[in-house]
Amino acid sequence: MGRKTIRDIWKLTRDGQPIVALTAYDYFTAKYVDEAGVDIILVGDSLEMVIYGSDTTHTATMEKMLYHTEAVARAVKNAMVVADMPFLSYHTGIGDAVKNAGRFIQAGAQAVKLEGGWKFAAVVKAIVDSGIPVMGHIGMLPQSIHRIGGYFTQGADEETASMLYEDARALQESGAFAVVLEKVHPQTAEKITGMLEIPTIGIGSGPHCDGQILVINDILGLFDKFTPPFVKKYADLKSQIIEAARAFAEDVRNKKFPEQKERRTDERKN
Ligand code: KIV
Repeated sequence: MGRKTIRDIWKLTRDGQPIVALTAYDYFTAKYVDEAGVDIILVGDSLEMVIYGSDTTHTATMEKMLYHTEAVARAVKNAMVVADMPFLSYHTGIGDAVKNAGRFIQAGAQAVKLEGGWKFAAVVKAIVDSGIPVMGHIGMLPQSIHRIGGYFTQGADEETASMLYEDARALQESGAFAVVLEKVHPQTAEKITGMLEIPTIGIGSGPHCDGQILVINDILGLFDKFTPPFVKKYADLKSQIIEAARAFAEDVRNKKFPEQKERRTDERKN
């Protein structure tokens, strides 16, 4: 059947089916998330925080993002793979932005995502014109965290909400195929969703978006620096890792590992 395309994503929205999206950063997580049947797998620059332990996403580089995109793309058979364009990879001119977006396609992604509204409309249009689908991202923008001054809900009053309406419209007109709404006030997110023909995918933006996305490490309980209030933990892998490592340490210290079955040698002759 092959991977989902933008047409499959649009069809979900046309049919009133919510779009399911999750991040993944490595081969096996991507493989399992894909087997679970999600629609979109995003190689997010959130990997800087949840994999590499940085305080922000600013340290993500093209090289790092491409490396993780290749690993994810190798694993995914059914979902659409979207790669996040890192900080400064689309800010220094349209030529750079198109070239960097193209490198993600060469790495196996089918689309790119970038943060920003009307100010990036020309960049989005140029990337789309070069044949690469773009997912927009407005609301709370982690790459602009120092300008915003904190992880606040966006569009809670009429003035900031109208700025978001303008951003959303500009992205649609520039050819974006979908737009992520991050920490947008639920009423504003509902209005944007009703206003746009392209799907909205919410994160912390209430129930009225056309789809939902979360960071895989958050839902697995693998990231404990802070848990955003909109995250639902579906597993507690942190405890399981600590428990498994402790059990191994205990076995080694008590000389219970390796047991007879783990002492078997490889019978293959080198
Ligand atoms: O980087 C990321 O994981 C994201 C999602 C949170 C939307 O941009």
